[in-house]
Amino acid sequence: MGKLVIEGPIKLSGRVKVSGAKNAVLPIMAASILCDEKVVLENVPDLLDVRTMIQILESAGSKVEFKGSRLEIYPVEKANTSVPYELVRKMRASFNVLGPLAVKFKEAFVPLPGGCSIGVRPVDYHLYGLEKLGFSVKVEHGVVEARMNEKPSQVIVTFPFPSVGATEHIMTTAALMAGTYTVIQNAAMEPEIEDLANFLNKCGARISGAGTKTIEVFGVERLKGCVHSVIPDRIEAGTYIIAVAATQGNAVVEGLEPKHLFSLFEILNLSGVELKIDQTSVEVKMTTRPKPVKVHVAPYPGFPTDLQPQIMTFLTVAEGTSTIIETVFKSRFLHVDELRRMGAKIEVTDGTAIVHGVEYLSGTQVSATDLRAAAALVIAGLMAKGTTIISDVDQIFRGYENLIEKFSSLSAKLEYYE
Ligand code: EPZ
Repeated sequence: MGKLVIEGPIKLSGRVKVSGAKNAVLPIMAASILCDEKVVLENVPDLLDVRTMIQILESAGSKVEFKGSRLEIYPVEKANTSVPYELVRKMRASFNVLGPLAVKFKEAFVPLPGGCSIGVRPVDYHLYGLEKLGFSVKVEHGVVEARMNEKPSQVIVTFPFPSVGATEHIMTTAALMAGTYTVIQNAAMEPEIEDLANFLNKCGARISGAGTKTIEVFGVERLKGCVHSVIPDRIEAGTYIIAVAATQGNAVVEGLEPKHLFSLFEILNLSGVELKIDQTSVEVKMTTRPKPVKVHVAPYPGFPTDLQPQIMTFLTVAEGTSTIIETVFKSRFLHVDELRRMGAKIEVTDGTAIVHGVEYLSGTQVSATDLRAAAALVIAGLMAKGTTIISDVDQIFRGYENLIEKFSSLSAKLEYYE
């Protein structure tokens, strides 16, 4: 499960380059199932989750080559439309191959993804959307079966909550439904959805409105291949930006898309961080303890839930009391107990965390509960006085490429042990 040993406190300095976005490349890989020709993806991060999705595509019948940051996905010849449970259990994003497999090969069988430490993670919006698209959907023994029926001529899907995964799943599946016009309302607006639509349109899809609340899809008969470069990972970028601010450092985070991070920049400016924003980079400088702020987590363009554990860590040493309202995953607070072990003063009631600033954190033994909580604990270890040992840390490699090398290039002192 791996251990990270971190010496603190350290003021991060230097430069670090952001990799391609995990949460863009995963749905694009699922969508590649629709394509009749080779798909080439560039700027692909080498992450555990990418390797899991490669296994899923191979199990479905694709051939996949991954060299450096270039992924080549060859069309499925002989389809296997049942996805193994152990792959879906490892990564819930794999559920999004259900629609593409079913629309391409008339039927598919994908196990229900389990919950995880940040919440129950239901897929009811996905199933609702697939049924609206005309699929017969049934769940038996924990496996979802989707079977293509009569294609409706027009479909309106309205999500109760702007779900990222459900928006991606229905938009992708609708793309290959020739003769069907689909409207998705209350769609999620995350940049990764726009990147997915750009990829599909390069392959010949007819999607408009991605990145807004309303997406329109005119289904087409077939999709060819294309070459597509994945957008930078805004959550990885935000993690390093917060780490530099939290350690009162001065460093440059480059290879990012600033407009994807304006909600984070707003909060950091309010807390006293100096940001010099350039075309594809930001210089971060912090010389004092942060001022307390109120953070309201919300779907994009609101403050991202995937940076909530990291910004909470930053605010544990603020000069006053901050409030963090989590509205996406209400129970995403398992990192709070670990931060308390380091001296943080945090109260949590019903989706809201009240963070009373303390002078400093103290290094100790902690354990990671999910990928972003692990990242928050790395930041805590860099800020804390003394040595921090993070156990169960391997999950951090699901979402952070070359994490040890990147933090070391910012002059952090951290060692990994199997
Ligand atoms: C995506 O998860 C991301 N994962 C998550 O990042 C991210 O935290 C989340 O979006 C929110 O931004 C990927 O893109 C692979 P949702 P997803 O559907 O699609 C409820 C990371 O660390 N909901 O937008 O699963 C759900 O319970 C991961 O990289 C339903 O009720 O998130 C949650 O409360 C963690 N029914 C809310 O919607 C459904 O059918 C938002 O979930 C689907 C979702």
